[in-house]
Amino acid sequence: MNKNETHNDIPIIISQEELESLKQSLPHVSSTNNKMELINYQGFWIPESLLARILQLQRHFLARDSDLIITGLPKTGITWLKSLLFTIVNRAIYPVNQNPLLKNHPQELVYNLESDIYGEAFEYPRPQHLVELPSPRLLSTHLPYTSLPESMRTSNCRLLYICRNPLDALTSLFHFGMSYLKNTNSKEILRFEDLFDDFCAGRTIHGPFFEHVITYWKMSLEHPEKVLFLKYEDLKDDPKHHLKRVVEFIGMPFTPFEKSQSIIDQIIEFCSIGNMKELEVNKSGVINKFFEKKSYFRKGEVGEWRNYFTPLMVEKMTKLMEEKLEGTGLTFKLIL
Ligand code: A3P
Repeated sequence: MNKNETHNDIPIIISQEELESLKQSLPHVSSTNNKMELINYQGFWIPESLLARILQLQRHFLARDSDLIITGLPKTGITWLKSLLFTIVNRAIYPVNQNPLLKNHPQELVYNLESDIYGEAFEYPRPQHLVELPSPRLLSTHLPYTSLPESMRTSNCRLLYICRNPLDALTSLFHFGMSYLKNTNSKEILRFEDLFDDFCAGRTIHGPFFEHVITYWKMSLEHPEKVLFLKYEDLKDDPKHHLKRVVEFIGMPFTPFEKSQSIIDQIIEFCSIGNMKELEVNKSGVINKFFEKKSYFRKGEVGEWRNYFTPLMVEKMTKLMEEKLEGTGLTFKLIL
């Protein structure tokens, strides 16, 4: 075997020396939350273990014009959007009662590029698998717009960005972190106050939160054919309207027949958290070794933050939001 190739014929795009020297040159912090070591790559914080994967992704991935890529920060509704997009795109192939989501977790049908595809061991699914996927490929990434592989930015592939009000996103992250610690038998204690401080300092995974959101927001305004900007709260509030935006954006509008059959209502109901949570496939097992499948479906509410934020935290976050969002035209609903 050529030493520049792995056993899967994926070129080793980054050498160990390059990786080590890059790691040393990047800013590091130990986040208060969970004592996790984060490094700042291209302006955003990532766990050290993701760096090699992201470099592989940036240097290897070739977008197709037909690709549909879900992007967003962790805990903002990615799993929900994966279920919806998968069901919408495949609606002519699978009637609801044969939907592969009945047997697969959404994360197993719409791969996350940096976690699932560009894993260090190149297990299945792996980068090579990308060429085998039929078009349109449905994929996801947490990368900020500015760090996307070049072909994702320059091709005609489309990006569906989902965001969520930062208070609920943070509350959800707290619960997900707790579930992760429990699953890894960690002795670390995750304190909401610490996570809050990290969040405000922009030091959560793939953060700073506002910079991530605002870059995609601006791209969606400048290039609405390229980036569709969705908000979790809007999807909750008026799913029909926003799913119509999704189908128009991806060029698969509902036909008069589908309208007469209320297909949109069936999709909304099938992908609702109440239904997804009750599916056997989502009740047990893990994703990527440590993440319990059920932890991706928790409450799915708008406004749960009220049980966790002190009045002082609300004041601080409101100020931060005002500062960061000023002049952008972007707003968040905190309750419905
Ligand atoms: P909560 O922890 O607030 O309940 P992500 O998929 O980006 O990791 O986000 C997870 C959050 O989305 C969790 O929020 C989860 O409950 C919620 N979620 C998952 N599936 C959902 C669905 N079908 N409808 C609404 N919310 C959903």
